Amino acid sequence: MSKIIAVTSGKGGTGKSTVCAGIGYALAKQGHRTLLIELDFGLRCLDIMFGMENSIKYDLGDVLSGKKKVLDAIADVPMASNLNLLCAPKTLTSVTAEQIVEICRSIKKYFEYIIIDTGAGINSHVFDIVEQSNLILVLSTPDPVCVRDASLMSDEFYNRGNKSQRLIINKISKKVIGDALVTNLDEIIDRVGVQLIGVIPDDFKMTVATGKGNPIPTDSAALRAFDAIAKRLGGDFVPLTVKTA
Ligand SMILES: Nc1ncnc2c1ncn2[C@@H]1O[C@H](COP(=O)(O)OP(=O)(O)O)[C@@H](O)[C@H]1O
Ligand SMILES: [Mg+2]
Repeated sequence: MSKIIAVTSGKGGTGKSTVCAGIGYALAKQGHRTLLIELDFGLRCLDIMFGMENSIKYDLGDVLSGKKKVLDAIADVPMASNLNLLCAPKTLTSVTAEQIVEICRSIKKYFEYIIIDTGAGINSHVFDIVEQSNLILVLSTPDPVCVRDASLMSDEFYNRGNKSQRLIINKISKKVIGDALVTNLDEIIDRVGVQLIGVIPDDFKMTVATGKGNPIPTDSAALRAFDAIAKRLGGDFVPLTVKTA
């Protein structure tokens, strides 16, 4: 049975898709059969990040319309043998939480991890979908606006009774860290009110790799951070180190 993980944030551009791609890639490289489901309808991007823009034949829209069975619409990601992708439709398509839950239920036995990129915009559908997952990864950057949105988002999940939340702080840079590193990180964690599972550096190498659809270079600081988060998801203890790119 797979673990369903939803990656979400209050604000757009925080790195949800990048983090889904990075964690999915790290999990797959560690030998776990992993599926990424992209719910960013009309704004799909994971196909580009994995260099598959021209090879995606079907997407979630084909599953929702009944044209394709779920397993037939899932693509193998060439850069990691255990990684699979169900892309968002290129156009806006209506979807209900029940449909996504049913899709996950029907394929649960084939994957150890199903990671859902919840996409931009928080509407009740997203809340309903995220609520059904086993773990919510709340993403924030150190930007105060982003931190407040992450906090509001997380409170809403708590109010709805979902306590399985972990915080990822993305785009940490030398500028942000300075001498006040611990204070900064602690402040963010306190404000969001969610236990930390990882910190990801602002890493230009990764932006270049995902923009070109190339594998994230093995010497990238971000990849090391994704690797550590992937291990922590499996219950391993990996000490937190904050390395900037
Ligand atoms: N850790 C990071 N280091 C450098 N660039 C990043 C990082 N995380 C995200 N980005 C960049 O930020 C932009 C937005 O990321 P994206 O994953 O598309 O955000 P979202 O899915 O939340 O809208 C992209 O250009 C991406 O390359
Ligand atoms: Mg996105």
